[in-house]
Amino acid sequence: MGEKGLRFVGATTVHPSKVISGEILSADLVTLAPGDELPAWVLNDLRTDHAGEVGAICIYQGILKFARDQALRSFAEHHLATEQKHLSLIIGWLPPAQFSRLLPMWRIAGFLTGALPSLFGPKAVYATIEAVETFANLHYGDQIRRLATKPELNGLRKTLLDCQADELAHRNEAAVARGPTRPGVLLRAWCSMVRAGSGAAVSLIRYI
Ligand SMILES: [Fe+2]
Ligand SMILES: [Fe+2]
Repeated sequence: MGEKGLRFVGATTVHPSKVISGEILSADLVTLAPGDELPAWVLNDLRTDHAGEVGAICIYQGILKFARDQALRSFAEHHLATEQKHLSLIIGWLPPAQFSRLLPMWRIAGFLTGALPSLFGPKAVYATIEAVETFANLHYGDQIRRLATKPELNGLRKTLLDCQADELAHRNEAAVARGPTRPGVLLRAWCSMVRAGSGAAVSLIRYI
């Protein structure tokens, strides 16, 4: 049973502290936890998540800096609290040495992404958040699929699934608040720019 279990999860991926008396009784016992050593590709993914959550916090702070609409402010306050929770979850998995070295830049980019549409009213903000959270949802979805074949990373996968569920709720709330009217051409161009910028940032953060 022990040998069979070892072959199933792959001996090189099992954290020594998870092996009890030389036997692995189930996949749950080899699940890595926050603080355990992770493969480089997982750290690269987590670095993008960490920078993304830092940026998301700054987006909502940028909105709160300028928005006066009460419904929008309460939307941003609620989302900000969730993004702070996501950040602390990701920090649990990612050692500080692995954080993006460009974090100040992501903070500024995030703040501007929230602040600029705030100057044009709630609809511009909701459309921006819909674009950002659509990107975040797909971003987490990609990682969750990559982790699906790694039983030892089930704990991390569950964490990311929780984050993704929140981002999906954020996107849906923003879409409802924006209303059924299609945004104008300028707002659509801004949202496309935000999505493209997020994608470019993620590509860069994998390395820096
Ligand atoms: Fe988040
Ligand atoms: Fe979010």
